[in-house]
Amino acid sequence: MSDEREEQLREVAAKLGVGAYHRHVFLCTGPNCCTPEVGTAAWEVLKREIKEKGLGAGEHACYRTKVGCLRICCHGPTMVVYPEGTWYHGMTAERIPLFVQQHLVEGKPVEEWVFARNPLPLP
Ligand code: FES
Repeated sequence: MSDEREEQLREVAAKLGVGAYHRHVFLCTGPNCCTPEVGTAAWEVLKREIKEKGLGAGEHACYRTKVGCLRICCHGPTMVVYPEGTWYHGMTAERIPLFVQQHLVEGKPVEEWVFARNPLPLP
């Protein structure tokens, strides 16, 4: 990779805070596990809540990514949180605020919405 390209990538990553996150949330916005409207509404609330709770940096810093499919494709919106590997179903906009507070801030998954777990082993 050229020095210029590498420098640009490092700058973008640094600007996004990559390297300081404790969690990463992937939210599927459909179209098979939920309608795009339901998925997009959940995504907008997730962005808002993470910002309002100040989770862009600090000890609970959480990166967020909207994805097209997590291959579950039913009872969504589907969401997975790493590093714990906690899989959630039905993560509509209404559920997102409690999820953000309880899981991302307090570190306690909302058990009634969890359907699978797959923590990734450390190398
Ligand atoms: S469309 Fe959401 S998991 Fe496949």
